[in-house]
Amino acid sequence: MKDSDSAQQQLSLYTEAWSQTDDHLPLHTSIVLFLLSYCELNSVRVFLVCNTAVSTEAWRRRRTKLPQAVDVCCVSVEDVPPLVKGCRLPAAVDGTGQLCRAGLAVVLRHVINKTMEDDPSKNNVLSLLGFKKTCLKACAEVSKWTRLCEIDIPFAVEEHLQNPTNPNQQLPSAITVLERRLSEPVKVHNDDKIRRQKLKEQKQDKRNEFPTALGETNPESKPGQSSESSAELELRAALARLSVAAVPRLTSRENSEIRKVKTADLPPLEHVFAEGLYFTLTDVVLLPCIYHYLYSLQAHAASVLPCLPHLLRWYSRVQQVPGVPRAAEDCGLNLSILHLPTPNHPAPSVGDEPHPDPGQEEMSEQLPFVGGPRPTMTKLKENGIEAVFTPHPCPAWTLPWDSLPEAINPTEGKMSNVRAVRKMQQLNNLVAMVTKLARPGYIVVDFCSGSGHVGIVLAHTLPHCQVVLIENKEESLVRAQRRSAQLGLKNIGFIQANLDYFTGPFHIGVALHACGIATDMVMEHCIQAQAAFVISPCCYGFIQNAVKFTFPKSKKFKETLTYKEHMILCRFADQTAVQLNPERRLTGKRCMGLVDLDRSWAAETHGYSVQVMTMEPENCSPKNNMLVGRPLQRSEGEDIASKLQA
Ligand SMILES: *[C@@H]1O[C@H](CO)[C@@H](O)[C@H](O)[C@H]1NC(C)=O
Ligand SMILES: *[C@@H]1O[C@H](CO)[C@@H](O)[C@H](O)[C@H]1NC(C)=O
Repeated sequence: MKDSDSAQQQLSLYTEAWSQTDDHLPLHTSIVLFLLSYCELNSVRVFLVCNTAVSTEAWRRRRTKLPQAVDVCCVSVEDVPPLVKGCRLPAAVDGTGQLCRAGLAVVLRHVINKTMEDDPSKNNVLSLLGFKKTCLKACAEVSKWTRLCEIDIPFAVEEHLQNPTNPNQQLPSAITVLERRLSEPVKVHNDDKIRRQKLKEQKQDKRNEFPTALGETNPESKPGQSSESSAELELRAALARLSVAAVPRLTSRENSEIRKVKTADLPPLEHVFAEGLYFTLTDVVLLPCIYHYLYSLQAHAASVLPCLPHLLRWYSRVQQVPGVPRAAEDCGLNLSILHLPTPNHPAPSVGDEPHPDPGQEEMSEQLPFVGGPRPTMTKLKENGIEAVFTPHPCPAWTLPWDSLPEAINPTEGKMSNVRAVRKMQQLNNLVAMVTKLARPGYIVVDFCSGSGHVGIVLAHTLPHCQVVLIENKEESLVRAQRRSAQLGLKNIGFIQANLDYFTGPFHIGVALHACGIATDMVMEHCIQAQAAFVISPCCYGFIQNAVKFTFPKSKKFKETLTYKEHMILCRFADQTAVQLNPERRLTGKRCMGLVDLDRSWAAETHGYSVQVMTMEPENCSPKNNMLVGRPLQRSEGEDIASKLQA
């Protein structure tokens, strides 16, 4: 094995240590440690980041509640590596110190990846990633389910634990959402076989119970509602997947009757674990949270427990997963210390707000549209609002492509020639603007960096700046790191995270093809950091109201347009493809200009000067707008920042 390989493989994981006052670890840290123990991954160094020194005696006492085989130590905030310092914890950094992964879900998924790379035979660990390996992959900014598990539930439980006797925090809404989810039937990929088996067992149960249970027959019991013994079929099927034992099968001849039943008429399957039938990473995330939560309820508000029948049932089932009790004990969680009421049949769940399946959710629904953009544009024009484009300050500027190293050139991939030329033209525009804004010692962040087309060129052309690439897709970022290593770049760092998890200071933010509200997220991030920005937006049609943003954004647009009218602009802003007729493309370009004008006016209220330009040459991309913004009083940045907070 090459040295560079082994260096890359050494993982250091940073996570928050105990709060000053007690021995309680933050839930995110408990979750990370629990997973490390469950995976039996011992090749990772864990650094608990402490604000204050921990006495030898306190450390000794606390160490017994940390996984014994895991290499854990304390580190003070100042000694955390710079790249990690700029991220929310937990964060994991590879042996090169250049690639950092931040945020709970990303770090946990990487721990699983690491375990599998070390020992590909650990199928129970691989299965944590679920069907298509997507468990908790969609980031919390997009997926309500990820947000619930990664953020809302740990946060709600932390709040409850701080004040366990406060009745308002005893049944937080994040918990009731989970309870409701657990009460829903599940759809599992290819679940026919299991449902047929369930039907068979239900029939057998009926036959067995009939003579004795005649007087007790529940007139309300529907065929879909399972009796206690067949309900356990789901658990058996789930557990069978974790061991070598096969899923129960239908084999004998007398089952032909069962085989004939139409799929639609088969009994639904009950939730066993958080994502459905199988034990996944989500259950790992929930276990330390729910353990502490139930433990606290038992002590302070036992009357709340009967409201959570499905959660209690889940809690008893996770304990039956091989490896879970061991890992729990290793982490100082005594699962059996809870003497919980076992619900024999879960009551209908609390609340009735519907919520979407994981993977099928969106922040909000797309509004249906009728008509064209003309009325909206006319309305704006009547109010004196028209798209304006600042002339490009250096239309002919180009990077010296012929003399740049191979690995920088976008042609290096499998890109076609035309696409590569366009890409180089787009890069010329962004690099020209960043170069104008940059000063030695600046930190430049490439948001949505993909495989690094922009960031790597910037690191090469601005050797006196530090360049940080942020990207959520692991594969892209790993490719970027490989290209950078070929070039021997030293002034570069890579962060796999949602951009919310990047909290470090920086001077210039860049984004090429920032889709939909990604443009707005990057702008907001730059404004908070008082950084300049160079952004080329994309996919205007994906723009819609989100938790953080509502459209239109600026005062003037708000006074003129409704949300729906603004969405019409966004939708027509996407109609700039070359194959459309010139008139439509012109309208599209105007709509793009208007949407970006609204964005730039909104930024100007935060003390920015913003220009909307067209990249050169115009045909380098159908989405050829570029927003260039700079804070007007960089030197008094703190002043503005405090005004913003007020
Ligand atoms: C866990 O709790 C149970 C019940 O209180 C107790 O009997 C058992 O000894 C405990 N186990 C550990 C490892 O502390
Ligand atoms: C781990 O992640 C790397 C990089 O994305 C990927 O190439 C590899 O296939 C993953 N390994 C496993 C076992 O999932």
